[in-house]
Amino acid sequence: MNRKVQIDIDACKPRMVTAETIYSDYGAIIVWENTVLDALTINRLKIFGVDKIWVYDYGMTDSGSEGPQSRSEAEMFIESYENDAEQFKEILHDLSVGKTVSIEKTVQIADSIYAKKDQRRQIIECITQIRKVDEYTYYHSINVSMLAMLIGKWLRLRPEDTHLLVQAGLLHDIGKSRIPTEIINKPGALTEEEAAEMKKHSEYGYYLIQYMDGIDRRIQEAVLYHHEREDGSGYPMGLKGDQIPLFAKILAVADTFDAMTAERAYKSKNTPFHVFQLMQNDCFGYLDTIVLNTFLSNISHYYIGNKVRLNDGRIAEVIYINPQQYGKPVIKIGDEYVDLTITKGIKIQELL
Ligand SMILES: [Fe+2]
Repeated sequence: MNRKVQIDIDACKPRMVTAETIYSDYGAIIVWENTVLDALTINRLKIFGVDKIWVYDYGMTDSGSEGPQSRSEAEMFIESYENDAEQFKEILHDLSVGKTVSIEKTVQIADSIYAKKDQRRQIIECITQIRKVDEYTYYHSINVSMLAMLIGKWLRLRPEDTHLLVQAGLLHDIGKSRIPTEIINKPGALTEEEAAEMKKHSEYGYYLIQYMDGIDRRIQEAVLYHHEREDGSGYPMGLKGDQIPLFAKILAVADTFDAMTAERAYKSKNTPFHVFQLMQNDCFGYLDTIVLNTFLSNISHYYIGNKVRLNDGRIAEVIYINPQQYGKPVIKIGDEYVDLTITKGIKIQELL
């Protein structure tokens, strides 16, 4: 069972699963072990000149033809993502009209999200590239849930704990259903009073879910503490470092990434590299270092091999992610390699 076989890259088909992590000639990770391959990733491996890879031999007979299958996989992913958001909308609606919501419905949506746990590339592309700018609250909750799941996997948490994290991600902002819509939808800056009211959403959320039958204590704590910050500057309690539960630390990283990605999308500067840079520079001392580094080091590697447009209009390819500065990779422009940590004036403008 699960025998490893080495195959030629030309024999590689979508849905095969890598049995070993694949590195580029520069030692950068191109594809992690246990990744379900899709047409895009296989093409990326070819671009990097990889000629043989190790895969598990299960699932090799039903991999079918490349193009139509990978397209329908992507379509199915988006369809399921939109369905999760629709289901979640119903929960928020029920809460806003004062109905009690059972944990079963949340678990059902969490199951649907958890079923996508190995579709990491689709999750990342969905959040950073195809994001919805309307109906922010619903999609934000699903996004935070999916990101928390990725972090849980990258931190090698037990599957049952990662499933709880998915539920916590869904419920983290549920207290916003108790905040007046004028405040939630206000386009400009909030007044001091409005901001104070907005900050109550984590406590409101905690009270809303405390009556859910069978809810895990860690989910409740994560909802209550997801705005606590490492240096004690967060709310509602001003907890510091180790006082903040792990689930809340994970939600804080996922929440910050999705909020920054959305903000960038509005300003049409939607490159994940901007967000990596902001998180690495501005969140030091606020977010847990281990959780943040685990997140940035893993997610940034998904962009190796990506084509990007630079601020001077030239097209380049991302070659190497620098762990000192995740937002400034080494890129290849034509035959020239450019290290963005050294070369000033060149910026990544757009992901292609
Ligand atoms: Fe929040």
